Amino acid sequence: MNFAVLASGHGSNLQAIINAARAGRIKADLKVVISDKKDAYALKRALRAKIPAIYINPHDFSDRESFDRALAGHLRKFKIDFVVLAGYMRLLSRYFIRQYPNKILNIHPSLLPAFKGLHGTKDAFDYGVKVTGPTVHFVIDEVDAGMIVLQEPVRIEAKDTLETLERKIHKAEHRIYPKAIDLFARGKLKIIGRKVAIV
Ligand code: GRF
Repeated sequence: MNFAVLASGHGSNLQAIINAARAGRIKADLKVVISDKKDAYALKRALRAKIPAIYINPHDFSDRESFDRALAGHLRKFKIDFVVLAGYMRLLSRYFIRQYPNKILNIHPSLLPAFKGLHGTKDAFDYGVKVTGPTVHFVIDEVDAGMIVLQEPVRIEAKDTLETLERKIHKAEHRIYPKAIDLFARGKLKIIGRKVAIV
């Protein structure tokens, strides 16, 4: 199986995925990394790992779908079977999601369905929950609402600040995302309604 990572930012999850693939912990080939941000550090990480890195400029397109058609064109060239979002900040069009039905994974930094949206870590911290943590889920045509693959609880201690909590969540993300990708690549995830069984 061939996969692509889409990333807009720092790319620490991308790095965890590259490392896991190198170590044989992901049985699939990461063929290309694509970003909508020219200066995304994720692109540098890809190049350093000798993985093709592509920047697509959103300003070259009149709407979301035409951007996504260009994106899908690149993925077709690399014969991509499934797509991994790792800090990808653009909403995907319905068109794109239909191209890869139940073949797009995302990671979100809170225990979904709690604290959906752009600030999952801060919202959980400010709310005062005692446990939060990342969720890997399939992408459907509703933001942060897809079927849940893996979650890892992270305790919020009295001494935690938003920064220490972010660090703990990132570490947990780097553990569960490669694991989820490998399960998917090996055909071990079975979607039954809203539930994902590991078979
Ligand atoms: C992660 O916290 C992830 O949960 C969210 O975006 C962040 C990406 O971080 N979707 P990085 O770019 O992988 O370091």
